[in-house]
Amino acid sequence: PATEDPHPPSGGVRTRTRAAIDAPHLRTDRWWLAPAVTAAGLLAFIVYSTWRAFANADYYAAPYVSPFYSPCLAENCDAMRAGPNWDLFGGWWGISPAIIILIFPLGFRLTCYYYRKAYYRGFWASPPACAVAEPHKKYTGETRFPLVLQNIHRYFFYAAIVVAGILTYDTVLAFRDEHYEWGHMGLGTLVFLVNIVLIWAYTISCHSCRHIVGGKLKHFSRHPVRYRMWQWVGKLNARHMLLAWASLVSVALADFYVYLVASGAFDDPTIF
Ligand code: FES
Repeated sequence: PATEDPHPPSGGVRTRTRAAIDAPHLRTDRWWLAPAVTAAGLLAFIVYSTWRAFANADYYAAPYVSPFYSPCLAENCDAMRAGPNWDLFGGWWGISPAIIILIFPLGFRLTCYYYRKAYYRGFWASPPACAVAEPHKKYTGETRFPLVLQNIHRYFFYAAIVVAGILTYDTVLAFRDEHYEWGHMGLGTLVFLVNIVLIWAYTISCHSCRHIVGGKLKHFSRHPVRYRMWQWVGKLNARHMLLAWASLVSVALADFYVYLVASGAFDDPTIF
């Protein structure tokens, strides 16, 4: 009787062109730790942000507006007076106004080169780690629908620049007090400042940004300004993973801070 070919021509990583090793992998270290920690961290953020995005409450405590809800584009938004808001969706929008705007930062992070690696490993085991074969029978990479859509990352980058600009404006407005008088700084202002620095650092360190700034050039010597910018973005780009996590934590903390103040659990201490 015909025996099953253990290395069929199109069997994911177990093809005839690969070494015929039967062991699933030859790693002896704790290779599963990094994808497990990554999956736990991402899951925690997904649970927190889903709760906050759908809560539709406690996202505004003058002068702070949660980064999850800015800019407010629907009439039902408490923060209408606080930031660069635009009543684009009018009164018919009944659910949380965060849902309208979160699509952009969410799309930016979901299609990010680093996060792709993180969740492909953490959630899909595709592959779970370097030199550990994935369990799936077939591998088509990002060449087919829906993963081919990851290529729109560059457009999400443009949207992320706009979002970062709006959050910068919100941070400037955080230098007012609760009566909208300028010259105030609270602990929340500091939280917003740290967050916006990390958001910009993460956004600018994007691989698409690096390509937009310095890609498609034949001679760097003829483009000294772009060369300088490319070097600068490259330095940040080397820390993209770190900035991805730092900004993810900081944006959740900024939102949580607004939640604490807005819900009355905490009074924003004044620094000056
Ligand atoms: Fe991560 Fe663009 S590659 S944000």
